[in-house]
Amino acid sequence: MSRKQIAAANWKMNLTVQQGEELLDNIINKPHHLNDNQLVIFAIPAPYLTMAQHKIAEKKGVYVAAQNCFSKKSGAYTGEISVEMLTSLGIQFVVLGHSERREYFNESNAFLAEKINICLENNIQPIFCCGEPLSIREADTQNEYVAKQLKESLYHLSAEQLAKVIIAYEPIWAIGTGKTASSAQAQEMHAFIRKDIAHVYGTEVADSISILYGGSVKAANAVEIFSQPDVDGGLVGGASLIADEFVAIINALQ
Ligand code: 13P
Repeated sequence: MSRKQIAAANWKMNLTVQQGEELLDNIINKPHHLNDNQLVIFAIPAPYLTMAQHKIAEKKGVYVAAQNCFSKKSGAYTGEISVEMLTSLGIQFVVLGHSERREYFNESNAFLAEKINICLENNIQPIFCCGEPLSIREADTQNEYVAKQLKESLYHLSAEQLAKVIIAYEPIWAIGTGKTASSAQAQEMHAFIRKDIAHVYGTEVADSISILYGGSVKAANAVEIFSQPDVDGGLVGGASLIADEFVAIINALQ
């Protein structure tokens, strides 16, 4: 089967539980045309995971993700969230390595490798974020930059493990700025990422991995971006907080 097409919402640190419930209701009860190869994933604040799990329980192809987890199994790590906590809630996905966590919480490629490991050991699929800052794009060294992120956080994995990872390419200069990468820029990087994976793991593994684009995706540009051959959907911030916008983005999946 061809790789999954995915519309993923990243609510970040937004909304009260009441607002979150209303938003979920407004999205999942609107008609969309998900086929068996398409998924919708809501990466939501940790306190709302149980609420959201209940809401989407009957919805085929719809999943809830955590926005983060810790690298240790359990213990004296006040405030952190373990993968065991997530699996005990039935959560199957977690966003890792978002640029905001890399920047504000100093998450390194090596630290993210540890988080990736514990997720895969516990059957949680990571949505691994990568992407370059503006200075790197301006210097035209984005390929090397992203290749290093992939190598240092993912390429110790077996092929079987890597096949469970979802990759999200999010150029930092396009996040929350309204400045989307052009569909050609997105395609170019996604094709590069797939080629880099193929170089290490072979084309079969590379072709099976979903690579999502993130950075100012909205209803107005989703069809164009998702139509690129190596773009398998999106990881959406701001527009995922508006029901009509996110429903249109789901319906833009190819
Ligand atoms: P925006 O869609 O708000 O640019 O955010 C993208 C993002 O960071 C998703 O993880």
